[in-house]
Amino acid sequence: MRAMTQADVDAVLAIEQAVQRFPWTRGNFADALDSGYMCSVHEEGGEIRGYAVMMPAADEAELLNIGVAAAQQRKGLGRAILSEMLDAARAKQLRRVFLEVRPSNMAAIALYRSAGFREIGVRRGYYRNAGSSEDALMMACDLSPLSRERERGGGEG
Ligand SMILES: CC(C)(COP(=O)(O)OP(=O)(O)OC[C@H]1O[C@@H](n2cnc3c(N)ncnc32)[C@H](O)[C@@H]1OP(=O)(O)O)[C@@H](O)C(=O)NCCC(=O)NCCS
Repeated sequence: MRAMTQADVDAVLAIEQAVQRFPWTRGNFADALDSGYMCSVHEEGGEIRGYAVMMPAADEAELLNIGVAAAQQRKGLGRAILSEMLDAARAKQLRRVFLEVRPSNMAAIALYRSAGFREIGVRRGYYRNAGSSEDALMMACDLSPLSRERERGGGEG
């Protein structure tokens, strides 16, 4: 993993447009970089295979985007990228990472759950597109050392 730069946006956008149902635009990625958000890419053999964007806010961060190239999915890359983003948040002493996800995105929800995210609420009609709307499932991952211990111990939830 390394930091994303403006020079990576074409490659990231190509993946985004291929794998996301409602892709970010070039401007969304450029703005995220200009705003100093935590933007990372996973590069192997000179090829960008995945990326993530996280926005820090006070002592928390919101995971805004994560994607893995279609040909590279189901090989553990999404989990590795997410894990590195959580480590980066811990390194900044952030307390919690949260995100919003479409309830229909079963792959992403399964990934987030396996990384320690729990559902904390629903935003009704949050995603609006072409006359229809979809709720957003809100999920959060507690980064405090105590919660990690609980996670490891398979705790009481
Ligand atoms: C979500 C996404 C990033 C996962 O990346 P990935 O590299 O395929 O994920 P991994 O191989 O690390 O899988 C980790 C876990 O996620 C879950 N998962 C991933 N893809 C899945 C799928 N298609 N169906 C069900 N569960 C899935 C599984 O629990 C998996 O663990 P397992 O392989 O041990 O069963 C990828 O599917 C993607 O880019 N999707 C399109 C973009 C997107 O929806 N992003 C999230 C919203 S911004």
